[in-house]
Amino acid sequence: MKTDSLGGLRRTHHCNALRAKDEGKEVVLMGWVQRRRDHGGVIFVDLRDREGITQVVFNPHVDAAVHEKAHVLRSEYVIAVRGRVDRRPEGMANPSLDTGEIEVLVLELRILNRAAAPPFVIEDEVDVSETIRLKYRHLDLRRPGLQRNLLARHKAAAAVRNFLNQKGFVDIETPFLTRSTPEGARDYIVPSRVNPGRFYALPQSPQLFKQLLMISGFDRYYQIVRCFRDEDLRADRQPEFTQIDMEMSFVGEEDVMEISEKMLSTVFEAVMGKPLALPFPKISHAEAMDRFGLDRPDTRFGLELCNVSDILSRSEFKLFSKAVQKGGIVKALNAKGCSGFSRKEIDDLTEFVKIYHAKGLAWIKIREKDWQSPIAKYFSEEEKSLLRQRLDMAPGDLVFFVADRPEVANESLGNLRNFLGKKLDLVDESRFDFIWVTHFPLLEYDEAEKRYKALHHPFTAPLEEDIALFDTNPLAVRSRAYDLVLNGSEIGGGSIRNHQRTLQEKLFHILGLSPEACTEKFGFLLSALDAGAPPHGGIAFGFDRLVMLLCREASLREVIAFPKTQKAACLLTRAPSAAGKEQLDELFLSVKTR
Ligand code: AMO
Ligand code: AMP
Repeated sequence: MKTDSLGGLRRTHHCNALRAKDEGKEVVLMGWVQRRRDHGGVIFVDLRDREGITQVVFNPHVDAAVHEKAHVLRSEYVIAVRGRVDRRPEGMANPSLDTGEIEVLVLELRILNRAAAPPFVIEDEVDVSETIRLKYRHLDLRRPGLQRNLLARHKAAAAVRNFLNQKGFVDIETPFLTRSTPEGARDYIVPSRVNPGRFYALPQSPQLFKQLLMISGFDRYYQIVRCFRDEDLRADRQPEFTQIDMEMSFVGEEDVMEISEKMLSTVFEAVMGKPLALPFPKISHAEAMDRFGLDRPDTRFGLELCNVSDILSRSEFKLFSKAVQKGGIVKALNAKGCSGFSRKEIDDLTEFVKIYHAKGLAWIKIREKDWQSPIAKYFSEEEKSLLRQRLDMAPGDLVFFVADRPEVANESLGNLRNFLGKKLDLVDESRFDFIWVTHFPLLEYDEAEKRYKALHHPFTAPLEEDIALFDTNPLAVRSRAYDLVLNGSEIGGGSIRNHQRTLQEKLFHILGLSPEACTEKFGFLLSALDAGAPPHGGIAFGFDRLVMLLCREASLREVIAFPKTQKAACLLTRAPSAAGKEQLDELFLSVKTR
């Protein structure tokens, strides 16, 4: 027999393939030693590959030499076994394994490779820090949970491609070494050796390229593409992440939403075995802020916010009435049945809303006969009665209030709502609640920079009927942007774009760009808009976020093969690293030390 690295053996089955009906077959399995158990004479090994586990048995009475050899096996050794499928004896079946009714009696063992003792056991419930897991990611990725997640990710990507290919979308690659595309985060920049002192930016998204492709006549574009943003990282943000990026010509909002919904339904069918209920509900940005305080409402539970500014605008409680008179709002949230919360619990919630810059958290405990509260004594009978009605107060309830600028009141109570939803176990984790958020404001005012900024990005079109407001009240102009929210997480966002040069220029002007700066930064776009640009629009989905939610994970790191830490480091390769002097010299760069 020819000897090669496999000892002349050819694998016949994966480790999850064999069942009782295969009894008597001769098979060859290859994989990793999950566990070896020595049962006084007979050695059992759980052999693992990506599909599952098969128990293989070394019996000294069947082959003493093979049995002897099996003594050296350790966790994570890579082996090949040739053997015979046996039904396990009565009462020995393992119902937790797909292959639990059989075992393979080994006739030949090849040790294909040894393995150093792993720093943690390869199974789902590992008691080990994420730092260690990321440092040994190649081992971490052997764990069944991560294998399942990455396979789900693969299935989702395949479903997206199949669907969009069928619908006439063309997959076109766009450059990574490019110019800054403004999406609101910091750029990663790359020095150019052949143009000393000049830099490329890695794309925050292919936004401008996909618009140019519409102008070139491709009609429908998509790409599953990496994007790079130097942002402060969180569990749902990575410095490099993947978008399902799409753009279409001759469409309005409804067209983009409809095709997106169908695509997502196909993905859910492929990964979860069940399509989604379509169409998804829609809510305007203004209504989302009013009812949920956030532009990414988690609609899996109630506990909605309530604006009580009108009731309290002349209240004796000056904190509230002054806030309203200064243009702020008073918002409230009725935590039904929570009047049993302790002082400490309320203090903790007060600290929680302070993260979002609320100055305090006023509260009322509704009791059978009266209200217990540090502020209720300031309310008139009429105010009390109006509050009771508006907030549907009943004995046992605990009502919270925040008075502040609308942004602060909404954000702090909106986050409190999510926090309480979890704390009170109101969230049905089995649900997938999609909702479109539409009619975002086009602009926001940046106090620090003293100028308007685009809320989505500067290529988003305003609502036709609001264009007149540009000159009188720019902040009231609504945009043709839409976000898709799943279970309170923003999984996608897009818009109908400005396809006419004059409007785009006007917007640049409002954003504070001088005509020179427009030409310098966006001259190529403006001249392309002049070349016969069709009306167009699109959307991009955060693919990692989508897969994270599909896999019911709480961090993107559980669905990305080689993710980065909170400090944007790769613990496996230890990137980023210092550049050598020669490398820097070649780039005409020097590094400042702090
Ligand atoms: P936007 O900036 O909203 O739109 O991005 C689209 C989606 O990408 C996901 N996302 C992220 N996921 C992980 N880590 C990050 N750091 C991160 N940042 C964003 C979110 C988000 O909804 N060019 C426009 C799209 C368009 O207008 O067509 C864009 O990039 O899920
Ligand atoms: P004080 O009079 O400062 O003791 O505040 C009385 C109550 O009002 C406390 O429970 C504070 O947490 C709360 N509070 C203070 N500022 C605000 C605010 N801007 N909005 C809501 N509650 C507040």
